[in-house]
Amino acid sequence: MLWRTPEGEIRALEDRCMHRGAPLSLGRCVGKGLRCSYHGLVFDDGGQVVQIPGRDSAPPQARVRSFPAVDRHGWIWVWMGEAERASPDRIPDMMPLDTPDYHLGPSTYDFDAEARLVRENLLDYSHIPFLHADSFGISEDWATTPVGLTELDDGVEYRRWVLDQPLVPGSPLRMDVYSVFSLRVPGIIRLWNGYYPLGTAAELDHGVPPEDYPGVKNVNSSSQAVTPMTDKTTRYFFSWGPRKDCGDETIRDGLIAIAGMAFAEDKIMVEAQQREFDRAPERGLLALPSDEGINTYRKVMARFLREAGELGDA
Ligand code: FES
Ligand SMILES: [Fe+2]
Repeated sequence: MLWRTPEGEIRALEDRCMHRGAPLSLGRCVGKGLRCSYHGLVFDDGGQVVQIPGRDSAPPQARVRSFPAVDRHGWIWVWMGEAERASPDRIPDMMPLDTPDYHLGPSTYDFDAEARLVRENLLDYSHIPFLHADSFGISEDWATTPVGLTELDDGVEYRRWVLDQPLVPGSPLRMDVYSVFSLRVPGIIRLWNGYYPLGTAAELDHGVPPEDYPGVKNVNSSSQAVTPMTDKTTRYFFSWGPRKDCGDETIRDGLIAIAGMAFAEDKIMVEAQQREFDRAPERGLLALPSDEGINTYRKVMARFLREAGELGDA
């Protein structure tokens, strides 16, 4: 459970009072501490009980686990591993919801599937025109144009031009789209798209376009996090919205609504995959060239697990 001290600092404690198992998230903030709402024990901001009603002192074992947590880029980052191995320097840059030049809106989506399947769905552009025909409604070029993959120290990045696309589905205005996507361990995503006048990609020799290029439209950005809740359930956080010179709050709300439709499509598919993998865990899969991003990310994740000394499936 998360709470803030009177100074506004974020704290994360295990959501289970060690007395009778009450969720501390039902508790109340009292001064610098947190009071369990069941029998009134007061915890300090490190999870140690400092007051038991009717007692002079509290035994040292009256404590719950606390987790390192920081507030950064408008997101809260909790380290669930050994406290001394937390490395806040490795938190990637995200776009906060109050980024001045964007109208970003937040949303969450829950999946009854393991985080790995949700992550791999997001790494996989080859499904988008097909599974999301009714929501995003974008052309097959988004599946067939190579993603321009780079392996990062802590994840993968795709950077590419998708040529000659409608400004929005059905629009007669055709544009070249520059798209940047990254997914970093353990499931942190940033996405940026900009629509440039037709011919811009060729003019720039398929290089990186300036963000303020004349005639650029529909610049939008998204920050996302795939967070495991249990082995088989996942909460997916995302923001999305237009740069302010490319759209207002109505456009933002429209994008969030379309994303909600698309994630409902993903949910049906990913949860069905999970059921199938649970039913027949011994069956193998056939990797296609379009799964390169998934495979590269798995390799990076396996390296992290090896470095952490953990065995297991990335
Ligand atoms: S369960 Fe928390 S004080 Fe009793
Ligand atoms: Fe999808």
